[in-house]
Amino acid sequence: MSDEFEMHEEFSSPGIPVDRADTTGREPLGDPQEIPELSEVDCPDELREQIEELVDRYPDKDSSEGHKSASIPALWAVQRRYGWCTPEGILQAAAVMRVTPAYLESVASFYDLLRLSPAGNQQILVCTNISCWMRGGDGLLDAFCKAADADRDLAGHGGAVSADGEFLVSGFECLGGCDLAPMASINERYFGPLGDEDAATAIEQLRQGSDPLPDKALSEKELPGGKQESSDERVTSAKGPNQ
Ligand code: FES
Repeated sequence: MSDEFEMHEEFSSPGIPVDRADTTGREPLGDPQEIPELSEVDCPDELREQIEELVDRYPDKDSSEGHKSASIPALWAVQRRYGWCTPEGILQAAAVMRVTPAYLESVASFYDLLRLSPAGNQQILVCTNISCWMRGGDGLLDAFCKAADADRDLAGHGGAVSADGEFLVSGFECLGGCDLAPMASINERYFGPLGDEDAATAIEQLRQGSDPLPDKALSEKELPGGKQESSDERVTSAKGPNQ
């Protein structure tokens, strides 16, 4: 491995699923309008505990109507575990929350960041909205598709999984990092401004398990005005610009 692609000591990629789904597509599971029995659903303990804890954070936690408040974080937990909101994962979450799978599907289908089809192990969202577009966002999306071997047309219409199944590459409408334009989110971390040549570098680094583009990572950038101390432990213990 060249120096350029050396493993970053503290590299961790929050977007990578912990228990990648075996399924490669959607198969109907039971009646989506029926609340599944938890005893009949093979839900991993860790996921069940996570969802129970999420439900506990919301008011009215003793009714299934109240449990619906935790739908988005519960679906996010499912996606974190399996890489996407699989039918099995939705069934498991529905059984824990005492809601119907149909309800959770309807929530998941509304949000771009919740995926109802296989989404690779690593996700690259390239912003193509106005600030990034004016600074070459479309070309950057082309470059990521080429480097990852993903279909450009699909990438611009909801996302394309690379030929080897490793990456999801998707155009996105403003990730809120306009000052980094043109920018991309790679495994839930922001990078920019990026040149087209950065796409091939990032894909190769990710394939090798390395920290992608450390010199372009938002988390490594100084805050405006320089380093600032904080008395908040949540800030001082987090990896970010203050570290
Ligand atoms: S326009 Fe690209 S992040 Fe806002």
